Amino acid sequence: MKKRFLGILLCIAVVASLLVACDTKDKSTGGKGGDKTIGVCMPTKTLQRWNQDGENMEKQLKAAGYKVDLQYADDDIQIQVSQIENMIANDVSLLVIASIDGDSLGTVLAQAKEKEIPVIAYDRLIMNTDAVSYYATFDNYMVGTKQGQYIEEALDLKNAAGPFNIELITGDPGDNNAKYFFNGAMDVLNPYIDSGKLVVKSGQTDFATVATAGWKTENAQTRMENIISSFYADGTQLDAVMASNDSTALGVANALTASYTGKWPVLTGQDCDVANVKNMIVGKQSMSIFKDTRDLADQVVKMVDAIMKGGEAPVNDKESYDNGKGIVPTYLCEPVFADVNNYKELLIESGYYTEDQLK
Ligand code: BGC
Repeated sequence: MKKRFLGILLCIAVVASLLVACDTKDKSTGGKGGDKTIGVCMPTKTLQRWNQDGENMEKQLKAAGYKVDLQYADDDIQIQVSQIENMIANDVSLLVIASIDGDSLGTVLAQAKEKEIPVIAYDRLIMNTDAVSYYATFDNYMVGTKQGQYIEEALDLKNAAGPFNIELITGDPGDNNAKYFFNGAMDVLNPYIDSGKLVVKSGQTDFATVATAGWKTENAQTRMENIISSFYADGTQLDAVMASNDSTALGVANALTASYTGKWPVLTGQDCDVANVKNMIVGKQSMSIFKDTRDLADQVVKMVDAIMKGGEAPVNDKESYDNGKGIVPTYLCEPVFADVNNYKELLIESGYYTEDQLK
């Protein structure tokens, strides 16, 4: 009888301690995040991907119980700086920032550091500041490698005699990612350029010359129109254009539609924006890199949660990304390529787009 009574007492004690533990666990994240606000800074609404990134981050952070202050900066560095200043003044618990210009946030982030607000660099590394705790992105060098390899295979560069004509177009010089994309692609393509199998008729091959200010479609289009009229207007075949992302690939496709009469070249891209997937379906773009922004958001929310619980965020790369003040521990998601053969599986069956969106 006494034994039974002790057993019941023990059960009550265990249940009570479990309840207390659950309650404490809830509080450590402020009731699963509780009243903690996470500041999320996105560069612009004009590019489709950042809208998706922002929406996914907001949705997934809220699902984890956090409040979210989500801001877009219209690709204006000063606007982004003041948005961050306001968030710091409002005592956000953590900042997630996709920077417009990686070099322009050092001063404002010093204020974050002073207030011990952790900072996660989102997609683009923030340079020359020791205020960044972590970086989460897709493997940027691999993005470029996959674009280069796609061209290598499409033109059968390993076996075909060539020569083939190619032009190059990359991103904004203030975006640290752009060099990784460019270098990844050029490490595949350069041996063929050196051997003469690939020819860049315009002679424009160095990063600064092939960069596109603001990643803007119209800038890429103007440069491509000039290249076409100077080097390909006489019927010279253009075999490939290595464009680092979809907004620049769109500019290339517009220029080709307007003023190029030869066989459509192999054209790369990145992001699987709706307009570009539509171009892929009609044969005006060969491939795009698919970076599932749901995966990146998911990973960043895991990082946020770990930091808010006082722990270390999960990372899988501790050597590749030096921001000038030291290595920033990074989580790299894996990009994949999409083309007309696999886009349905990757983009529609996965629920990223509906079939109607791509019509
Ligand atoms: C991103 C790309 C995007 C580009 C232009 C880069 O930092 O990684 O996905 O296409 O910016 O917004």
